[in-house]
This record gives sequence, C-alpha cells and structure tokens, in this order.
Amino acid sequence: ERAKLLNAIIENAIDGIITIDEFGIIEHINPSALTLFGFDRKELVGKNVSVLMPQPDKERHDQYIANYRHSGHAHIIGIGREVVGQRKDGSRFPFRLGVSEVKFSDRRIFTGFIHDLSRQKEDELKIKSYT
Ligand code: HEM
Repeated sequence: ERAKLLNAIIENAIDGIITIDEFGIIEHINPSALTLFGFDRKELVGKNVSVLMPQPDKERHDQYIANYRHSGHAHIIGIGREVVGQRKDGSRFPFRLGVSEVKFSDRRIFTGFIHDLSRQKEDELKIKSYT
C-alpha cells in the first residue's frame, strides 16, 4: 500500500524525477521527466543519463560520478545547480537540478529532481528587454 502511494506521488509529480545507478544508468524516470525531454520510457531506461545533456557535460558526466564515488566530494548532491538539459530533438532548456544519494538494501542509487526553468528564464529576458 505504502509502495503504491509513493509510486503514485512520483508518477504524478510536476517536477521530473530520474533515478540512476552508481554508473549513471537510468533505472526509473517519471512521466514529467519524459515530457520535458521528449522521450518515451523505453528509450531511456538502461541508457546513460548523459543522453539528456549537451557537451561538454555529456562526455564528462561519467567522470563526475566516478570522482564522487572515489572522493566522496559532492558538487551537486545536497547543493543543487542550474544546468542545461538536451531534449530528444536536440533543443536545450535550463533547469534546477537537485541530486540526492539513496543507500538502499546494500546498493547505492542517485535520484535527480528536475525543475524546469525555461518559463522563468523567458520572463527574465522579457523584463530585461523593457529596461
Ligand atoms: C555531477 C551535470 C543530470 C547525478 C554532475 C556535475 C555536473 C553535472 C556539471 C559535476 C559538477 C562538478 O564536478 O563540478 C548534469 C547535467 C545534467 C545532469 C547537465 C542534465 C541532464 C543528472 C541526473 C542525475 C545526476 C538526472 C541523477 C539522477 C549526478 C551525480 C553527480 C553529478 C551523482 C556526482 C556527485 C556530485 O557532483 O555531487 N552533474 N547532470 N546528474 N551528477 Fe549530474
């Protein structure tokens, strides 16, 4: 019951939610994240999360995660950052990324929370162009 409730919360969340394993491979992705990035679920589960970002992060992201695994030193986990994502059609959008580490039955996964900022950014540009 509790698992069903948690699943319903995640499936209906407004923000995108993605979980990856320790090597960056996507295990779960909610409908909101699929809509934001323009993919179907079957196209992303089992793929590296780096497919969702432009260069140079795309080619560096495995190393970012490996650095964290080896050093324990976080740059985004527990802090958050504004980053740029890349959709299936190649277009890009800004979002606030929150990452947390989840230790769970002798395994470690990472959850990413994706809050789209494209509307806010457009509004900021409009405001700037008035002044
Ligand atoms: C680290 C970018 C998505 C998990 C990083 C760093 C960058 C980055 C720049 C390293 C920061 C540094 O070393 O200074 C991005 C971009 C994304 C993205 C552009 C766009 C799609 C995700 C998602 C997850 C994730 C969805 C989790 C589901 C991690 C982890 C680290 C990391 C675990 C290493 C720990 C840390 O630095 O705190 N990412 N990321 N990333 N990212 Fe991502």
